[in-house]
Amino acid sequence: MPTELVIKDLHASVQGKPILQGVSLTISQGEVHALMGPNGSGKSTLAYTIAGHPHYEVTGGDILLNGESILGLAPDERAKAGLFLAFQYPTAIPGVSMANFLRQAVSAVRGYTDRAKQAVTAGGGAKPIGSELMPMREFRKELTEKMERLHMDAAFARRYLNDGFSGGEKKRAEILQMAMLEPKIAVLDETDSGLDIDALRVVAEGVNSLIGPHLGVLMITHYQRLLNYIKPQFVHVFYNGHIVQSGGPGLALELEARGYGWVREKYGEPMVGQEKA
Ligand SMILES: Nc1ncnc2c1ncn2[C@@H]1O[C@H](COP(=O)(O)OP(=O)(O)OP(=O)(O)O)[C@@H](O)[C@H]1O
Ligand SMILES: [Mg+2]
Repeated sequence: MPTELVIKDLHASVQGKPILQGVSLTISQGEVHALMGPNGSGKSTLAYTIAGHPHYEVTGGDILLNGESILGLAPDERAKAGLFLAFQYPTAIPGVSMANFLRQAVSAVRGYTDRAKQAVTAGGGAKPIGSELMPMREFRKELTEKMERLHMDAAFARRYLNDGFSGGEKKRAEILQMAMLEPKIAVLDETDSGLDIDALRVVAEGVNSLIGPHLGVLMITHYQRLLNYIKPQFVHVFYNGHIVQSGGPGLALELEARGYGWVREKYGEPMVGQEKA
């Protein structure tokens, strides 16, 4: 059975301000969905709420992974359950190399860290049995393989995470992280600022090389252009905190041609803080 992420009539607030107003969406492993909508409509809020960011409070509805609510799970537990969120604005962590960071992340998601903790508890807490981290040789081998597959230079893994990264390099780092974590469902939130055509291509080629029966993607984007490279089966229009229309790839072309003006005419004035469509 493919893994299924079901978002059910989701309502969420940020700092007491209601943003998500009844989002319903199902994403299965193997499917690519694009979510498009005007600035401030709540797309990133949806992404952060799925990831379990503490600033986003769910006030109604549910998020289910294979039938089980994930609302009670912390972000790292959601990652272990197979969710991946690429942040729109990833933070820099100077002093931590990409490789180091990835080894930590992969070890946590694959359970090495937990198993080491259990071993410590079982052994009376004296000495850790087994390592908290994925064995170095195994990790290195996998990292090298995946970087080759993504056509990334090996030197990139020695860079400090996001420290002085260009927009394109940040995207590369994100894609590499996704390749290493092997999520079942990934939520990718793209901003239209700072991504040149090369960075777009990096995202597109990376995502395309990872797409397959084992990965479901929710691609949040402003770019019709990106969708020329990544072919979604489903396109959703997000407005005023919920999905107002869903369709096939043709819907993205329609948005490109017509903008969001018609959405506003059809679905009313934007909520406070949302840019005029
Ligand atoms: N941490 C926060 N504190 C206060 N308001 C917030 C916070 N996060 C989001 N909001 C508000 O929620 C609304 C939706 O923002 P969100 O970032 O989800 O929109 P978006 O659709 O992703 O926009 P964009 O296309 O510009 O990325 C905006 O009015 C925004 O100001
Ligand atoms: Mg956003």
